[in-house]
Parts: sequence; C-alpha cells; structure tokens
Amino acid sequence: MPSLKIDVRTSPFGSPDLVSFFVKGSPLPPGIPSEEFEGAPFSTVLLRDKNQRTLVVGLGEKNKIEPDTLRRAAGVAVKHLLKLGSKEIALDLAAHANHVAPAVEGAILASYKFTGFGTPAKKSTRGVLSRLQILVGEQELTQARAQARDAEIIASITNTIRGLGNLPGNLFTPISLAEKTQELAHGHNLTVKIWNERQLKRDNFGGILAVGQGSVNPPRFIVLEYRGGAKREAPVALVGKAVTFDTGGISIKPGAQMDEMKWDKMGGLAVLGIMLAAAELKLPLNLVGLIPAAENMPGPEAYRPGDIVTTLDGKTIEVLNTDAEGRIILADAIAHARLTYKPSAIIEYSTLTGACIVALGHQRAGLFTSEIKLRDALVAAGKITGELVWPMPIDDEFKEAVLSEVATAKNTAGREGSSCTSASFIKIWAEEIPFVHMDIAGTAWVIKPPAYLEGGATGFGIRLTLQTLRAGLPV
Ligand code: BES
Ligand code: ZN
Ligand code: MN
Repeated sequence: MPSLKIDVRTSPFGSPDLVSFFVKGSPLPPGIPSEEFEGAPFSTVLLRDKNQRTLVVGLGEKNKIEPDTLRRAAGVAVKHLLKLGSKEIALDLAAHANHVAPAVEGAILASYKFTGFGTPAKKSTRGVLSRLQILVGEQELTQARAQARDAEIIASITNTIRGLGNLPGNLFTPISLAEKTQELAHGHNLTVKIWNERQLKRDNFGGILAVGQGSVNPPRFIVLEYRGGAKREAPVALVGKAVTFDTGGISIKPGAQMDEMKWDKMGGLAVLGIMLAAAELKLPLNLVGLIPAAENMPGPEAYRPGDIVTTLDGKTIEVLNTDAEGRIILADAIAHARLTYKPSAIIEYSTLTGACIVALGHQRAGLFTSEIKLRDALVAAGKITGELVWPMPIDDEFKEAVLSEVATAKNTAGREGSSCTSASFIKIWAEEIPFVHMDIAGTAWVIKPPAYLEGGATGFGIRLTLQTLRAGLPV
C-alpha cells in the first residue's frame, strides 16, 4: 500500500479536491439548481471552479443520519473523485465532527482497489489517494484527531486484509498465510505460534490434517495472543476459517463460480485483522486468535466421504461430504481454544454455508448464538459499523440432526436448515463456553460492488468485532 497522509485541520491546505456533505433541506451551495439536486442519500453533484473541484454528496434527512451514512457518503465521494484522477481530498466535516471516525473509514476503504497482475497495457487514470484532509472546527480538533487515528488504523488494516483476501489460491496458500501473519504481527504486542504438518500430527490436530491432506500445499494452524488486559483475566477467543481454496475435495464442487472459493479464507483473515488492530489500538483486554488454514483438494491422498476423523479433543467426525470442510478444521481450532485458554467466550467467523446466502443474501451475515447479551451487542455494533448481522437459531433442536451412528457427529445433515445444523455441529466443540458463530458466506466478498466500495474481499467482521470489544463484551 502506498502511504497515505491524514491531516485533521480547520481549513484546507494546498488545493485538494473538496467534499461537502449536504443535509436535505439546508440551503444549496451556490451553483446548484435546486431541481438538479435534492440531497438524497449518496447522490452527488460535481462543481468545477477554476482548479478547485467540489463534490457535494447528499446525506438525506437530518434525523436519519447515522455513522454508517457518513461512512458510505465519504466512500462514494472518494471512489468518485479517484475515478476522476484525484490524489488529494479534503472532507468538510465541520457540521459532522461526531462522525469523523466513520467518514475516515469510508474514505480509506473506498481508496482500496484490487488491481491484479495484468500487464499495464491500458494505463489506469484512477488516482491513488496520497493525502486525506479532515476539516473540523477549532473546538473539535483534538477529539477529531483521536477519532481519525483509530479509524485509520482499523481501515488500513482492513485494506491489507482485503488485499490478501483477493489473492488467488496459487499465490496464497496456508504457508503464505502463516508467513504473512508473522510478518504483519512483527513489532506489535502479539505472539504468534504456528504448527506445521509435523507438529499438527504430533499434537493430534486430526481435523486440520484430514482436510489438508489432499493438497501439495500443507496445512498450518496459526495462533496469535494479545495481552492488553489483566494477567488473570480469561481471554476472548476469536476463531476463523481459512481455507485458501475450496474445491470441495472428493465431493468436488461444480465448475461455475468455483474461482470464488479463493475467498473461503476470509474468516481467518478477519481474525488476523482484528488481532492486528486490537494490538495497534492497545485495547485493554486479552485476546487469542486461532486460524486453522488448509487447502481443500481432491487427489490420491485426499480424505474421502465415509472417513472417520479424530479431532484434537478426542471427539470424532463422520465425513459424509468432503465439501463440508470448514467445520472440520474449526472443530480442532475450537477444541484448542477451549483446552488451552479457557476463554470467556468463543467468537468464530466462517464462509461456512451456501445456504446462508440463500437465507440472508449479501447484506447480512448469519449470527448464531444462544447468548442473548452477546447477540444484542453484536447486532448493535453492526448497525454502527455498517456490517449487518441477523440472529439465526442454534438451539439443541438442530443437534440431533448432526449426531452420527459411528462418531460424535456427522459433517452434513442434509439440505434442511443446513446453516443451522452446521452451526450446531461446530458448537459441540465449544462445550460449555459461550459461543458465537458468524456465517459470513454472503458478506465476505462482493461481486457487484455498492457505490461506496470496490468489488472483492470486504474484511467483514473486523470493524464489527472491534466495535463490540471496545464497547465491552457482555460475558
Ligand atoms: N465454503 C463453502 C460455503 C460457501 C459456498 C461459501 C458458496 C460461499 C459461497 C463451504 O465449505 C461449503 O462447501 N459448504 C457446503 C456444505 C454442504 C456440502 C453441506 C454448502 O454450503 O453447500
Ligand atoms: Zn469452504
Ligand atoms: Mn466446502
């Protein structure tokens, strides 16, 4: 990432392109005919005056403005101006100083685009944001600077995670993830432990080994510890599925859109992003991030339907479909979290089921938990951060469906309620520890990007979790 300079000031420095946010009903800036611009949310009008460009962005009605309104509006503005070749942008937030954080987040998130590896035949005219100015009143400077700084940490880490997420399976393997984690964690108050395939065998991580055994790219298990809280305080465990490519294995997937399965690692990457940001923000709590990483491939050494796999804690899985691989690697990771850290809660993120997309579409992730306070906290945080989650059931009614005649549980229980039965399967490994499962299959990446974002990996879950942790996790 090229470096971005952010200043919080009372008036613009130099001649940046200016973004002005417009609340419905307030007097129109000079030069805009009222029939042309009503200030509907995220509508824009561009004013050119000699060498100054001003983009006016509508926010809609005053009483409906939320943090996410500013996040999206800033995103729309930055995406629009970068297309015009802008490099320096000033956001006029004098009237919205309480929303500096989301506006900075929106601006930085919108500045990321996966440019790929093509030959630079058609040279892009898209600008690269090098300087972002935040304009507020004198009174608000100190608070706005603190807000902008935290927002910058969160959004730039999210962009790093999106960049890794968008890498294809040949360029980003479980080993790449382990190496990248070490590199990114370096210099932070984080300890990183990595299990290679030999160590996974020694320590009985049967689930991660089974899913990874069909690939020439061996699996890894990655654990990050962050201690920002009291010594004796139990940590919160964050667990994320990182399947660097999911072919389905022997139960191979159909060809259409299989390329999208490069994003099957976004749960694990979200956990990496949360851990990096928590350390950089110096959050006053203890966290452990656990990332099981594997590539799910068919082949002579691949695991097969019918196999019975023993996980870390001795529980067994009857594999009925090798494409239900996420829950198998998560079982090991959750068992390790429970046995090694006795966490106060386990929050797990995974692109787990296609059925979750059928149920909720691409705007909301499925939130599966029986912990009412945790559920409410996450739903509320998601409204603030613009990552909507929707409560789904995980009660014991689904547990019966995953019980097996020959093992502790079977990894598929048919089509009916499959997101719910999958969630209940994973919960078995959490035992009595308060457990949250977030199915991010529909939200971890976008194919048709909204106006405030570019397509590809979104980093869903990072802002949401940090917001929840900063508000104090109700456990
Ligand atoms: N990674 C997929 C789920 C997925 C599919 C996410 C499409 C996003 C888009 C997961 O490993 C999977 O294959 N799940 C199967 C489970 C089934 C075999 C029980 C599914 O959802 O079809
Ligand atoms: Zn998968
Ligand atoms: Mn799968």
